[in-house]
Formats: sequence, structure tokens, C-alpha cells
Amino acid sequence: MKLYRVLQSQGFGSRKACRLRINQGKVAVNGALCDDPDIEVDPAGLEFTVDGATWRYREHAYLLLHKPAGYECSHHPSHHPSVFALLPAPLVERGVQCVGRLDQDTTGVLLFSDDGQFIHRMISPKKGVAKVYRARCAEPLTGAMLDALRTGVRLNDEPAPVAALAAEALNAHTLRLTLAEGKYHQVRRMVAAAGNHVDALHREAVGAFALPPDLPAGAWRWLDTDDLKRLEQPWPSVPS
Ligand code: URA
Repeated sequence: MKLYRVLQSQGFGSRKACRLRINQGKVAVNGALCDDPDIEVDPAGLEFTVDGATWRYREHAYLLLHKPAGYECSHHPSHHPSVFALLPAPLVERGVQCVGRLDQDTTGVLLFSDDGQFIHRMISPKKGVAKVYRARCAEPLTGAMLDALRTGVRLNDEPAPVAALAAEALNAHTLRLTLAEGKYHQVRRMVAAAGNHVDALHREAVGAFALPPDLPAGAWRWLDTDDLKRLEQPWPSVPS
């Protein structure tokens, strides 16, 4: 693949902008400066540096963001900054999308990718990839509430009751709720339908992939092949 095309595919701008960057001596390949945009390179495993930052060629991008509160999962946010503002520009430019949405005040695991098939597998209710939430509730949890969440609650616009894969009390006010799908405001609506109210919501895990404890709120990292396997691991292989 020509070097300028590698840059273009990784989100470094138009054909013209990528050629110019290389001509200007701003790009190095495997550690050596390279000012020929048309040089042929093998993209597999290629390391390249643009304006001093080093990148590895990736056919598709798979990312994890520890979503902080106060960010909207939209390119055109209405009241808060966009989660895309927390990612480096080339990743946004290459077209990564949120894998499902979290509310602006929800924190935790937020995935991004530019692989449409992966996004579909993650969010399709038919695939049943578990989403694990920790919800702090306004009222103390009751056995009846947990039973209702497990057996199914009625939500507006849903023809049948919606049940959690699992619901457990972590303490008097904190619920862990595991869902097979990602309907609009699903946790808040299910908890409301069960007679309580969510005060704070955090997504702990998707599939068997839990938020790494060393990733601070607002930070992102690449997902590796082990992470991707864990994400697609079917319920009940969620982390303990
Ligand atoms: N359910 C909700 O109600 N909100 C979220 O952000 C995610 C799931």
C-alpha cells in the first residue's frame, strides 16, 4: 500500500493533506523519516510516526473509553461536550462510532469501533451480549423489586415484559443489573417500573470484559484480541 494511503486510512485527512504531510518530512516509518508519499509499505504491523506521535496500522479500530459523567454519546451534543472530544482526532476522522449509547450522566465502559459487523454483534439483542450495570437507587432495594426485574417489568412501547438476565443487591441501595439488550434508558426505565429511581449509573462490563481498574475516567485505550474475545463471550461468562 502506498504510504499516503496508509495515513489516509488511519484518519490523517484527505489524500492531498496526507501527501503534503509526508512531503513536509513529518512522517517516519518504522523509525526512519520518509518523505515519499508513493513509497510502497506493508501495512501489517506497520509503525509510523506523524508529528512525533507513533501509531500502528489497524485495519479496524476497536477502543474502550472510561466514560466520565457529563458527556453525550453524539457527534452533535445538545447540552454537554461530546465523548468524541475525548478521542484523538485521527480516530474520529476515520469514523469510529459509539457501540451503543450511554446517557450523559452514566459512567463506565463505552466502546467505539469503525467495524460495522462488530458493532452489530455487540448491540443486536439477538446476539445477547450482556451489559452489566451498577445502579445506585434512591430507595432501599427490596426482594419484590429484584424479583420484578428478574421476571420482567412493563415498559412503555414494549409489547412484552422486559426481564434482566440477573439482578442482585450489592448493598441496601446498590443494584447490579445485567441486561441482554440496550433499549433506550433501559436501566432507568426498568428500575422506575419496579418502583425505585436510579440516582447514579455505571456500566461495569460488556460480555466478560470488565472496565480495567487502572483506566481513569476520561481515558481511552485500544482493545486487543483478548479483550475482543472477552467482549463476545456469551452470558453467563460475565466477570465476578
Ligand atoms: N440504561 C440507562 O438507563 N442508561 C444508560 O446510560 C444505559 C443503560
